[in-house]
Amino acid sequence: MSDARSNLPRNRDSMKWGVHAPDVLPLWVADLDLAPPDFVKEGLHRLIDGDDLGYTNIPPDFRKSVASWYQRRHHAHVTEEMVVALPGVVPGIYAFFLALGERGKNFLTHTPVYPYFLNGGRTAAMACVQVPLKCDDRLYAIDFDAMEKAATPDTRALLLCNPHNPSGRNFGLEELSRVLEFAKRRNLMVCSDEIWADWLLDGKPFIPFFELGDEAARRTVVLGAATKTFNIPGLTAAWAIIPNAELREKFRQTILGLLPSANYLGLRATTWVQEQGEAWFDSARRLVIENRRFAEGFIADRFPQVAVTRSEATYLMWLDFRETPFAKQPAGELLRRARVALSEGALFGAGGEGFARINLGTSRETLADALERIAKALHGA
Ligand SMILES: Cc1ncc(COP(=O)(O)O)c(C=O)c1O
Repeated sequence: MSDARSNLPRNRDSMKWGVHAPDVLPLWVADLDLAPPDFVKEGLHRLIDGDDLGYTNIPPDFRKSVASWYQRRHHAHVTEEMVVALPGVVPGIYAFFLALGERGKNFLTHTPVYPYFLNGGRTAAMACVQVPLKCDDRLYAIDFDAMEKAATPDTRALLLCNPHNPSGRNFGLEELSRVLEFAKRRNLMVCSDEIWADWLLDGKPFIPFFELGDEAARRTVVLGAATKTFNIPGLTAAWAIIPNAELREKFRQTILGLLPSANYLGLRATTWVQEQGEAWFDSARRLVIENRRFAEGFIADRFPQVAVTRSEATYLMWLDFRETPFAKQPAGELLRRARVALSEGALFGAGGEGFARINLGTSRETLADALERIAKALHGA
């Protein structure tokens, strides 16, 4: 069966369903309530039955598979030697600062943003300078004036998230080119977390940062993984793409012995999904697009005082509760009153207060149940 299925049991132990009480509907952490492709499960069974659980040997086809995926999905040029295997994207962020940051200086990031970004520089004692995105007509965009104001003589790096979690923006050529011009003018290193690159919800293409040309390739570490695309985050495998050989060597030397190697099962699964997973992903994407349409309609109809951010990518929806009685702590209130777990906006840094993030990657039944509970809680408040 190559279609994504969303009829998973609820008594799962992994983080999304395992953390809260059984009566809570968890639509918080970014994994999907979809069974991974059958061929992944079969492949993992084969590996385990083969009793081969020794130290990781990077599978010879892993780098080739990542390069080919970029070529096919994003028309991007990646060579095998640019690819470094990692146990996760977040460890890759920490490694970027340790290897290529500068102690005691600072980096910029666009908020609200995936909470790990705010602490990303701690491995090099680098301070995070939060630059709020601007939002026009419910669509977020980079505020270049704010970037100019926020940068200091101590700024050394930019930590980008593209497509952007939680806003769902897929930054386009013009914005990315201006980011590159900014980075070049101030001689900044760029770490671009592109874990959401495959989750495009409309026809707009995705541009990996290194594809902007030689100047970008010289100063950029791109991080990615197949774990969000194919719902296998527990298998902990990811990659860095570092076109500049000198930076790549520094990065590689830094992680050696410090980060655990990527999980062998995860690396093998990455290759399988990239080779055989397109049909599964297309059906998962369709489900999310339909859920997004359903949620937008439901909210407009039942609780229009909550504004829905317009998204281009990801399976996340960023909801503005500032005009509701729950403005102070929307996710906290909804957990207490509706038994629905969302992600609290304030955790995403400046500009996140009064917002909450909902994960649309679930069955229609669960989503409808959660939205109904939220509607009742808002009406009863
Ligand atoms: C932007 C972003 N980066 C990284 C991660 C997690 O990456 P990993 O599990 O590979 O550390 C997430 C998970 O939601 C994410 O949204």
